[in-house]
Amino acid sequence: MRIPIFDLKEQYRQLATEIDRAIANVLQTGQFILGADVQLLEQEISEYLGVKYAITTNSGTDALMIGLRSVGIVPGDEVITTPFSFFATAEAISNIGAVPVFVDVDPLTFNIDPRQIRAAISSKTRAILPVHLFGRPANLTEIMMIAQEYNLKVIEDCAQSFGAKYLGCGNCSCEPTLRSQIQGKYTGTIGDCGAFSFFPTKNLGAYGDGGLVVTNDAQVAETARKLRVHGSISKYQNEMLGYNSRLDTLQAAILRVKLPHVATWNLKRREIAHTYNQILQGIPDIITPSISDGHVFHQYTIRVLHGKRQALIDRLHKEGIGTMIYYPVPLHLLPVYCGQYPPFPVAEQLAQEVLSLPIYPELSVETIREIAYVIKNWAD
Ligand SMILES: Cc1ncc(COP(=O)(O)O)c(C=O)c1O
Repeated sequence: MRIPIFDLKEQYRQLATEIDRAIANVLQTGQFILGADVQLLEQEISEYLGVKYAITTNSGTDALMIGLRSVGIVPGDEVITTPFSFFATAEAISNIGAVPVFVDVDPLTFNIDPRQIRAAISSKTRAILPVHLFGRPANLTEIMMIAQEYNLKVIEDCAQSFGAKYLGCGNCSCEPTLRSQIQGKYTGTIGDCGAFSFFPTKNLGAYGDGGLVVTNDAQVAETARKLRVHGSISKYQNEMLGYNSRLDTLQAAILRVKLPHVATWNLKRREIAHTYNQILQGIPDIITPSISDGHVFHQYTIRVLHGKRQALIDRLHKEGIGTMIYYPVPLHLLPVYCGQYPPFPVAEQLAQEVLSLPIYPELSVETIREIAYVIKNWAD
């Protein structure tokens, strides 16, 4: 068996004719920067997600920085976020001069634990930045309630959750008006803005770097548009310090071919997760992820308890099955932040236990069953 943790080649093979045509079309028009495909992609994504404005950028990291600055976060502001994410989540906050304030995560969802957010709010807190980790929507009902109560902005990190709908937190005590306002909406469209990544392995991935800011707020959209082109809308009329953060027209053209397929791919990811869960359920020392509504399984990540993770990794690798640890070091323990934060026990424990298994839409259910049985046999 030889199954990598992800494989982008099969998807390209399936779409090659359309993608090659889209690329050739851009080459022929010669509009490589903010060409027609960029505007068309923005329009198509805003229709798809049901959001007023979509502004593409050249990475998810830039989308986070641009999103944060567009909603008004300035140096010295505190932004509450999760310590269990990819570094870019906190890096974007620090890079604009704001301060990441970490709040531990929920061991079941791996997402920021809303019950602990209030205790982290200070007079300098201006925003909450939840991450919809591995494609599972964070508890936005609670987060939006806290944001309203303390007048905080919400920037959703949707790098891993393109196409995930927020279908509620399952908690009946949530305020019904707010619940009805946000339930059923796509992640990224509920907070003040959402930041997405089109990194190739993402649920909607380009063939290079790419990102996106979405918002329903005209002012936020205008600022984001300025920030991505050196702080200007009109050439040589720079109003603020911005970035060179445009999505390449070539990437936009590729993403336009892929966008109509993303819902099917996300369903396939959920089906894969179901198959894994069916076979792995009940194995001692393994905790499988719950399949909440709306989860789009950017990663399928189990917990391997009692120090047995490395043994399982060794066994899987021996069988030619790729695995990854997302993430081996929680953000507050990375060298760049080390010593500046208190412990976050859940994030630290997860870092010791999590293991991501192969998941991408082109994997057959038979292959998933084979992988799952390798794990089951290892455990027996
Ligand atoms: C949760 C999260 N946030 C932000 C990013 C940054 O996105 P990009 O790599 O497009 O800059 C990533 C990318 O892996 C991510 O997983």
